[in-house]
Amino acid sequence: MTIKHLTSTSDLNIEQTHDILNLAHSILESPSSFSDLCHGKILGTLFFEPSTRTRLSFESAMQRLGGSVLGLQDSSSSSTTKGETLADTIQTVSSYADIIAMRHFHEGSAKLASKYARVPLINAGDGGHQHPTQTLTDMLTIRETKNDLDHLTIGLCGDLKFGRTVHSLIEAMSVYKNNHFILISPPELQVPDYIKSALDAHQISYEEVIRLEEVIDRLDILYMTRVQKERFFNEADYVRLKDSYILDLAKLSYAKKDLAVLHPLPRVNEIHVEVDTDPRAKYFDQVTYGVYARMALILKLLEEGPQC
Ligand code: NCD
Repeated sequence: MTIKHLTSTSDLNIEQTHDILNLAHSILESPSSFSDLCHGKILGTLFFEPSTRTRLSFESAMQRLGGSVLGLQDSSSSSTTKGETLADTIQTVSSYADIIAMRHFHEGSAKLASKYARVPLINAGDGGHQHPTQTLTDMLTIRETKNDLDHLTIGLCGDLKFGRTVHSLIEAMSVYKNNHFILISPPELQVPDYIKSALDAHQISYEEVIRLEEVIDRLDILYMTRVQKERFFNEADYVRLKDSYILDLAKLSYAKKDLAVLHPLPRVNEIHVEVDTDPRAKYFDQVTYGVYARMALILKLLEEGPQC
């Protein structure tokens, strides 16, 4: 595998993505066969923004591979508060860890950090830009659930403007055949223009709608998202938009029997808890797949350096 860092979904070509998803599938079939492959290796987790799943999932992944973890849980405990640059922090942690997973509030920070990292660097979310390991998680969930990554009608619903998981997932799923995207959001939270331009340039079919009810019966995948409160410039706009979509059993009754409902989590109120026991709810399975996807990615990235 010729990839050194994962800063954006576009760092992976289709074969590399398949290699990772195939390896993740092998791991989920027989986790114990992989339990010692990273013995003696250290994952550094640098999280400058809050996280539950992504950080714990990386930690779980490395520990399930027999490696260990050190890291920062928030920026307040790091030397960035003393004025240290991200470049210096990354150079320093490159001496302590064999691979780094970093989440940062600035768009583009992962790309910048990768220029200073002497070990593989993984983007665990950079502001409202990208979240490529959530996308590997989402793709593994889709492939394990639907057996396929093409010929799908994929609805993405909620905050498509600030939701970085949405941006990465659209980019990744665009390379598969005959996928159709239905972008469901209020006008204020539409997908950024640069993503629409890329879809247009590659002649990928998509439509933008406001009402989930209008399209739910056509979907194979429904990817729900939280309105990203922390990225709004004013509270009033957030309050106005936060309850735009609430998926409940009444709405789900119009959906296909084999719809898969995904959500990167955390959920606020956009999926009613009554949906959790519906067989179409896949968001907690998605959490489990996230560990396997990250185990596979760590193994693939470390293949480039000293063998795990
Ligand atoms: C997402 C994120 O951080 O972008 N969460 C996650 O990593 N699973 C989605 C979100 O915070 O809404």
